Amino acid sequence: MDAFTIQGGKRLRGSLRIHGSKNASLPLMATALLTDEPVVLRDVPQLSDIQNMVRLLESLGCTAAWRTPHSAVVPRIVVKTKTPAGAAKVAVGAGSSASSKGSTRSLPRAGSGSIDALLAPPEDVSELTLHVTDPARSQADYKIVRTMRASICTLGPLLAKRGYARVSMPGGCNIGARPVDLHIRGLRALGAKITLDQGYIVAEAKRLTGARVFLGGPFGSTVLGTANVMSAAALAKGTTIIESAACEPEIEDVANLLNAMGAKISGAGTPRIVIEGVDELHGADYTVMPDRIEAGTYIMAAAVTNGDVVLENCPIDSLTAVFDRLAEVGVDIELPKDDCSRSNRMRETIRIASARRLDPVEVVTQPHPGFPTDLQAQIMALLCLADGNSMITEKIYPDRFMHTAELLRMGASITRSGPTAMVTGVRKLVGAPVMASDLRASAGLVIAGLAASGTTTVHRVYHLDRGYECMETCLQQLGAEIERIDDKETE
Ligand code: EPZ
Repeated sequence: MDAFTIQGGKRLRGSLRIHGSKNASLPLMATALLTDEPVVLRDVPQLSDIQNMVRLLESLGCTAAWRTPHSAVVPRIVVKTKTPAGAAKVAVGAGSSASSKGSTRSLPRAGSGSIDALLAPPEDVSELTLHVTDPARSQADYKIVRTMRASICTLGPLLAKRGYARVSMPGGCNIGARPVDLHIRGLRALGAKITLDQGYIVAEAKRLTGARVFLGGPFGSTVLGTANVMSAAALAKGTTIIESAACEPEIEDVANLLNAMGAKISGAGTPRIVIEGVDELHGADYTVMPDRIEAGTYIMAAAVTNGDVVLENCPIDSLTAVFDRLAEVGVDIELPKDDCSRSNRMRETIRIASARRLDPVEVVTQPHPGFPTDLQAQIMALLCLADGNSMITEKIYPDRFMHTAELLRMGASITRSGPTAMVTGVRKLVGAPVMASDLRASAGLVIAGLAASGTTTVHRVYHLDRGYECMETCLQQLGAEIERIDDKETE
């Protein structure tokens, strides 16, 4: 089992390219089950969750082939390019009450312009081709599903295309109870007969029928549930309207791919998605959106070390709530000029600079466009060093606080009451051995380790490998002293 050792206290400097999004790639990969033709996905990150999804799809009769660089298998999506925007002076949160704390400075170079999610990526990104060759196998086994909850997003595509799906019910996980009742409710509304058998969800339907589906739950909508129902409805007979759909940008990405495959979906990215069912879908060639959570994590890492970091391929319009909070904290983030003429600034270059005491702030995690729960642990690590009391309230997973006990071991001052944590800033964190408990909690511990004095050892970094491609190499590129070691202690 690997661990990271981090010698804290180095200012991060340099530039980094953000990888394709894990949480978009997983449901995007599942859409390959909806067609007999190959689906080519570009810039899929190299992560253990992705490998597990490949294994799962292979077990469901899909072949998977990785290739780099580009080699077209099916025609590429035809897109129009716009004129790139130039460098500009801009303060984060301009126009909001937070703007007064953001500083104004020139970007280091022109942003990557107005290239958006649908445009061609650099030629050297990875390429994953998925192609169903044996549609007879429709069981998603427990032995794979238990390694990754996102396996559930094969349910809708299997059911819609093959009329039958047997998918292991995912269990709970370290961030709390994670039911799938909304997925089931949505697919039932489309006419599926769904039963439970030996821990498996068994779903059947000759052909799904369009319907009005409500996906609101006690903690908002459901991201993968929306992906499941939307993907299934793409092949249903008639029109489906999803009300209270998840608005996360990853849902827009899935809808964009489905539309490139011949689906008729509008409204993705809003709470109301309309899907006109079609009889069949064809192959497509699609570039995954950049990972907003990876970007947010490196932004916090730069901020906590008083660093000066340039991030390329940054999906800035999906990070508005994060920029808003960080402006309040006093972190300078330079963004490309915004005249509001572009609605989806997805592949931009930004610069993060922080050279002053951090101010405390209130953070409430919420469904998109609110502050993402997947960045809660990371901003908590940052706020451990702010000058005063910060409040963090977790509205998506009220128990997602496993990282707090480990941060306390590094000298943080955090009091938790139910879904809220009060973080009292301390002058310094002190390196310590800490235990990673889940993907984002681990990222929070790495951020704390980068700022702490002395050595921090983060055990069980396999959690990090699920969602951050080569995190130690990325941080080394920015000047961090971080090494991956073979960890005898937790074996
Ligand atoms: C996605 O999980 C992400 N995973 C999670 O990221 C992320 O934390 C989450 O969305 C919320 O943003 C992937 O995209 C692979 P939900 P998902 O269904 O879709 C409740 C990471 O670290 N709920 O939107 O499974 C649920 O318990 C991971 O990358 C129901 O009540 O999350 C939660 O409170 C962790 N019934 C809320 O809704 C349901 O049927 C949102 O969950 C489904 C969900």
